Amino acid sequence: MEFIKLTEQYEPLVALIELNRPKELNALNLQLMQELRDTLQQLDRNDHVRVIIITGNAQAFAAGADIKQMADKSAIDMLLTDQFSTWDQIRKTKKPIIAAVSGFALGGGCELAMTCDMIIASETARFGQPEIKIGVMPGAGGTQRLTKAIGKAKAMELVLTGRFISADEALSYGLVNKVVPLEMYLYEALQLAREIAQMSPIAAQLAKEAVNRSFETHLDEGLTFERKNFYLTFASEDQKEGMNAFIEKRTAEYRGK
Ligand code: CAA
Repeated sequence: MEFIKLTEQYEPLVALIELNRPKELNALNLQLMQELRDTLQQLDRNDHVRVIIITGNAQAFAAGADIKQMADKSAIDMLLTDQFSTWDQIRKTKKPIIAAVSGFALGGGCELAMTCDMIIASETARFGQPEIKIGVMPGAGGTQRLTKAIGKAKAMELVLTGRFISADEALSYGLVNKVVPLEMYLYEALQLAREIAQMSPIAAQLAKEAVNRSFETHLDEGLTFERKNFYLTFASEDQKEGMNAFIEKRTAEYRGK
């Protein structure tokens, strides 16, 4: 695996997955997401693992889907690539997953953290859905999960302005479980994992499924709707302008075309 580092027995019963594209701030390209999906499926079948931690590095959990990989795509390219089927499979992971987040958790990175079951954040964590700044919108669940997690008013603000929020704000809105100093976030995630790993894995799996059922009722419908609108943004000139402006490190000029 090129972009994922797996420590199967980080300690007994707990596996650690590190996203490992540091130069690109762990931007989630297609290969990274497929590796993550394969790893989670493998861990789901491993009886020696009961809880999974996903982390990035101090600077970034993940700065979003890989803009360079998407910039020149058409709406139909996006539809046919169907990159989110990998995300659907990740969502089906049965074992509890804790996201240990430091630094940027933006766009697809924030969406990936929200796809996990709990989030432990370092004080330096920054969350946001900045897709609007590059002429698109969230496509991996942001409009659905963020709204459920923090409510309509704040979700709308984040999705429409692309603003980032601090770890403390994320805590006050109920997006994360706990905020700890930078040097502690992985340890704190491990403490939580240890506690859960002592429980019956069968009860944990069934309880996770049940909580998600409450949280995710109508999620499938919402995700399908979001996905279609996300693809549709790729039919606009503004998407090309926004993503190319990011790559060329300049300010985008949107014309509403
Ligand atoms: N895709 C591809 N490359 C990315 C990236 C991304 N999402 N985020 C960062 N990078 C790359 C940068 O291009 C840069 O590469 P080069 O050195 O080759 O130029 C490198 O990572 C370091 O980034 P910066 O120089 O920009 O670092 P910074 O500290 O100045 O800024 C940042 C950090 C604010 C996170 C900025 O990188 C940023 O705004 N990134 C994009 C965030 C974003 O828009 N995410 C949403 C993506 S779309 C999406 O996720 C859709 C979806 O819902 C699935």
